[in-house]
Parts: sequence; C-alpha cells; structure tokens
Amino acid sequence: MATLVVVGTQWGDEGKGKIVHLLAEKSNYIVRYQGGNNAGHTVIFDNKEFILHLVPSGILEPNKKCIIGNGVVVDPVELIQEIEFLEQKDININGRLFISDACHIILPYHKFIDVWIEQKSTKKNKIGTTKKGIGPAYADKVERVGIRMADYMNDDIFFELLDRNLAEKKVILENFKNIDKIREEVLKDREKVIKRLTCFVCNTSFLLNQVIREKQNVIFESAQGTMLDVDFGTYPFVTSSNPLSGGCCIGTGVAPNKIDSILGVVKAYTTRVGEGPFPTELFDEYGKHLSQKGQEFGATTGRPRRCGWFDAVVVRYSIMVNGVNVLALTKLDVLDGLEEVKICTGYKYKDKILDQMPSSRAIFEKLEPIYIKMTGWNESTKVKFYDELNDNAKAYLKKLEELVECKIALISMGRSREETIICDEKILDFSFGKEAK
Ligand code: IMP
Repeated sequence: MATLVVVGTQWGDEGKGKIVHLLAEKSNYIVRYQGGNNAGHTVIFDNKEFILHLVPSGILEPNKKCIIGNGVVVDPVELIQEIEFLEQKDININGRLFISDACHIILPYHKFIDVWIEQKSTKKNKIGTTKKGIGPAYADKVERVGIRMADYMNDDIFFELLDRNLAEKKVILENFKNIDKIREEVLKDREKVIKRLTCFVCNTSFLLNQVIREKQNVIFESAQGTMLDVDFGTYPFVTSSNPLSGGCCIGTGVAPNKIDSILGVVKAYTTRVGEGPFPTELFDEYGKHLSQKGQEFGATTGRPRRCGWFDAVVVRYSIMVNGVNVLALTKLDVLDGLEEVKICTGYKYKDKILDQMPSSRAIFEKLEPIYIKMTGWNESTKVKFYDELNDNAKAYLKKLEELVECKIALISMGRSREETIICDEKILDFSFGKEAK
C-alpha cells in the first residue's frame, strides 16, 4: 500500500499514458497534479484508442477513482466535453471523478492572450504553445487575480473577478474581439458547466490525505516532461507548471514524506514539440525513420514532433531532479531496422566539454552533442521476454542504464498492454522507492 509518482524524463510524450494505465490496475486512485488540456494521453483500451487531456487515464479502468488536483488548470468547457466523450463510450464516471475546488479555471480570454503573446513574439522568442491558455491562466494564479473552481461557482465573487480581469486585459483582448462579446463568451456555458461539474468538485487534498491514511494505493500522474518544467526545463521554452515529481506535493496538498516511489518514463530516443533547444535533433533519414515509425505527432495539436537521438545528459539530470528510482522505457521497437544508433553522452561548447545541463539559454542553443555509436538491429524487439531480445538491442539498453545510472524495470514496444516486458517485478509494487531510501 503506497504512493507512486510517474514523471516524464524528457520533453513530454514519453508514453506515460500507457504506463499509468498499466499500473492503474494495482491502484485505487489516479491523480493529475499540474498542467491542463495541453496534455494528451493516448491509451489503447478494449482495442479502442482514447486520447484524454484532463481526466487521468486511470478512468478507463473500472472501479478506479481519479482526481484532478489543485495544481491543474481546468478549461471547464473542454472538461465537460471529455466527460461526455467518456460517457458516450459507456464509461461511468459518477462517484469516480473528483475535481479540486482550488484548481484555477481557464476562460476564453486566456486563450486569446496565449495567441497574442505568441503573435507578438519574434521568431527567436516564440514558444510554440498549444494555444490552450495554459500560460496566461498560471500567470493569473501567480498574479493573484485567477479564478478558482470555488470562485467560478460563486456568483458574487465570480462577477467581481471577471470584470476586474476583463478591464485589466481589455487592451490586449480588443485585438481579437469586442470586450462585451468576450464577456458573453465567458458566460455562455457557465450555468451548464456549474450544473454538470458541481457533483465532482470537493477539497481533494483532504480526500487524498484520508485515502493515504487508509493505506490505499495512489498514482500521481505527471503531464508533459522534466525538460518542460518551468523551473528545471529549457526555460523559457517550457510550459508554465512543474511536471517534476516535486510539483506533485504542491499540486495536490500531499506532503513530501507521503511519497514512496518515483517512476521515470523515458523514450528510447528523444522527441520535442514546439520551439526551443534540442541538441540531439536529427534532420536526416534517421530523423525521418523515428518520426514515421514512431508516429510522432502531438496528441493535442497534431503537430509533428521533432525527433532525435537519446540524450543521456538530459535523462541523467532528470533522474536527479525528480529522484527517479527506476525507469520504464518506451518505443524500443521504433529503433528496429536502423543500421546504427547513437547516444549523446555530453556536449561540446566552444572548447569545453560539458557533461551537465547548462541553465543559460545562450549556451544551450550552441551545444554540439558528443555521441557514442552502437550497432543497430534488424530483428523485431516485439518479444515477450527480455532474454528473447537480440544482442544489439540488449547492449543498447545496458549502455543507457550505465550512462543514466538507473535501472530499466519495464520495456514497452507498442501501444497495447501485451507489448510490454517487465524486467523487474518490483515496478508493480508501488513501494519500491522505500527500499532505496
Ligand atoms: P503550453 O503548455 O501550451 O504553454 O506550451 C508550452 C510548451 O510546452 C510548448 O513547446 C508545447 O509544445 C509544450 N507542451 C505542452 N504540453 C505538452 C505535452 O503534453 N507534450 C509535449 N509538449 C507539450
């Protein structure tokens, strides 16, 4: 009976959805703690594809309960659409979904501001956001003018906050629409939203602490990845929240000493959506192979993901800042059929060799990756047991473990549950991190 945080160790899209869904079998609660509907978790369930943006993917497992924590920014209209989508697929969510009354709300004006900031940025400064209003909603939270779920549901507080926000943001918003039209847009769905969401809204921090006292199993599911963390990622080309394991405590109201284990999800190569530095990015035939075979398109925006070799400096750093105990490696099969595979072990900057992540954007942009080359393989890695993997694939995995100084406990070679090798059974026991302490 324990708690587990699942984090992405690269730039997001590592395949957390599948891993969480797999582990959800053993869990009582699955919790989201940051981000919003910028995330897209693709899960294959009952031979059907589900892409969830806000509701934790554990909702697909019957009898599991899901929580959207206070650290998440919620677009209520999109959330209702997702709830309706699940209901159409005969997934009953009543009594299984809990939404924090303290999470901040994304309103139509946040999306306009998101677009406006991108439009006015120079090519060099564009972030390539999902345009879902994530950054502006978190900015309001920090500026202390945000509207939380409980405020949204209270007429007096809501109208006062709405009018204050519209007045303050008017100059920007009128680039898009007349301010009265935007006000109408905000109000258009509010009654329906309140009616539909009220039954799910509560103080999720009390609920979670009670569940943990009862020694139930809880998975905290991060969205995005470590390199998109607003504090530890490739700032400013990051999202506006803390996907890091540490963000889990702030985003749920569960104290650090209640977290037992941390699982890092890592792709067998690297991808990134949006702008920003990416030292191992490929522009050649190898990059094309990864993009096509890996079907590397964003689950939320459909944008092609940039692809590159595995960056051991990034993953080693990520393991450190998250306190990752073991790794789950995904998409190994995408490397099948490559003549050679490369791993970045450090960077060259001017006449220096760096084996650590620099913080400065000026340095990051100019890094040249230093690679080791390994022989590729033609055999399929879609096998049932580790021992059945070909020797070159095994050598690649061993090298990754050695370079990032962490064990791989699970390998995924496809989207379905069956396409998984469990290398270490302890990944199925959420308390594996306790041993390591
Ligand atoms: P925002 O979160 O929409 O503000 O976007 C900021 C940056 O994070 C952009 O580069 C996005 O492409 C990236 N991003 C946001 N969510 C995800 C995700 O779920 N996967 C991968 N990249 C993401």
